[in-house]
Amino acid sequence: MNYIVAVDEKWGIGKQNDLLFSLKGDMAFFRETTRGKTVVMGDRTLASLPGGRPLKGRDNIVMTLLPDFVPPEGVTVCRSLGDLFALLTGRENDDDVFVIGGATIYNLLQPYCRYAYITKVQADGEAEVFIRNLDEDPAWRVCHTGETLCENGLTYTFYTYENTAVKPYDPAQ
Ligand SMILES: NC(=O)c1ccc[n+]([C@@H]2O[C@H](COP(=O)([O-])OP(=O)(O)OC[C@H]3O[C@@H](n4cnc5c(N)ncnc54)[C@H](OP(=O)(O)O)[C@@H]3O)[C@@H](O)[C@H]2O)c1
Repeated sequence: MNYIVAVDEKWGIGKQNDLLFSLKGDMAFFRETTRGKTVVMGDRTLASLPGGRPLKGRDNIVMTLLPDFVPPEGVTVCRSLGDLFALLTGRENDDDVFVIGGATIYNLLQPYCRYAYITKVQADGEAEVFIRNLDEDPAWRVCHTGETLCENGLTYTFYTYENTAVKPYDPAQ
């Protein structure tokens, strides 16, 4: 399992249940990286997508604790870590699973992820929700530095981090 996220310089990722920035280059990278893959998101991130609909061309898994959550067509629901691990255990290739947010779900699943695809935006987006700063976590190291792009007056760089201490799935969670 991996995760993919755009962060500001404080590792903020969102406010008012929306993204901090609208960056075409980053959206293109997200589409390219997750196309044809399985995406895992929280119910609030699903609600933030256009029309509250799942992403096309991907298998969508939504994590929720809401008892009255009615999944849109084509969505698989997981109500606990155990549910998710039961679904993913035994898959031939879990490199094709991408956690796509939001803050609660990134922070919950980060220890189980091998790679993190982090787009770092050099700005303060005045975020309300944050993820853990991987630069302060000794288990994670940058293994690839990609392009730096400029758009709408914002400069951002694509990084890949590797987790050197991936936690195994535990379906008993
Ligand atoms: N910058 C980016 O790349 C990016 C990407 C995606 C999303 N975002 C932003 O992130 C924000 C949303 O993040 P968020 O943290 O508010 O919401 P979220 O992560 O999308 O959804 C969290 C949901 O998961 C539930 N949950 C918690 N633990 C669970 C468990 N063990 N099993 C099943 N469900 C569980 C939560 O329930 P409880 O509330 O009861 O705990 C909550 O309903 C928005 O601003 C969005 O735009 C940013």
